Amino acid sequence: MDVIKILGIVGSLRKGSYNRFALKAAQELVPGGAVLNLIELHGIPVFDQDNEMTLPASVLEFKRRILDADAILFATPEYNYSLPGGLKNAIDWASRPYGESAWLGKPAAVMGASTGSLGTARAQYHLRQILVTLDMPVVNQPEVMIGNAAQRFDQNGRLTDAPTRQHIQKLLGALVQLAKTAR
Ligand code: FNR
Repeated sequence: MDVIKILGIVGSLRKGSYNRFALKAAQELVPGGAVLNLIELHGIPVFDQDNEMTLPASVLEFKRRILDADAILFATPEYNYSLPGGLKNAIDWASRPYGESAWLGKPAAVMGASTGSLGTARAQYHLRQILVTLDMPVVNQPEVMIGNAAQRFDQNGRLTDAPTRQHIQKLLGALVQLAKTAR
């Protein structure tokens, strides 16, 4: 069977992002027979529906990467109890124009890291709500909510917390299974 290609979406633009570090940890934990490549949201403009029939180059490339993937792994920060505007904005672009969404039917999993104790729980439930309208099958369990992130990563950004690494490994296993059934 062909390799399962997972696209990890880095929900934060910040250089020292814990969410990017979490995705880098996931790259070390991905099951055999699957690969995890990351995509950044830098350079994606604010959504303007006047441009949805002639999408900007950065959005076309974003959509191409989604369409090329077998599964999506979102790593979202939590901003003011929700997902960051930049991530929502990128999701909106890739869902357009009507009838040409790149997300349709794409198996997905969600995780997130925050410096708060709830580990992006509220942001993840908002994101899951969005995945309903995008009609993406989503891994329900495990939920990977990395709270108090500053204590779970070392100074080099390596995820040192063993239980969190195990959770991510389980999430990846479930996502690969979902992707196989969706094929
Ligand atoms: C935050 N942060 C935050 N944390 C949280 O647990 N719940 C929240 O509602 C918020 N709100 C919030 C709003 C804004 C505008 C910022 C910039 C930050 C803190 C957030 O978890 C922290 O900055 C993380 O480090 C962001 O993720 P990255 O950039 O490390 O991936």
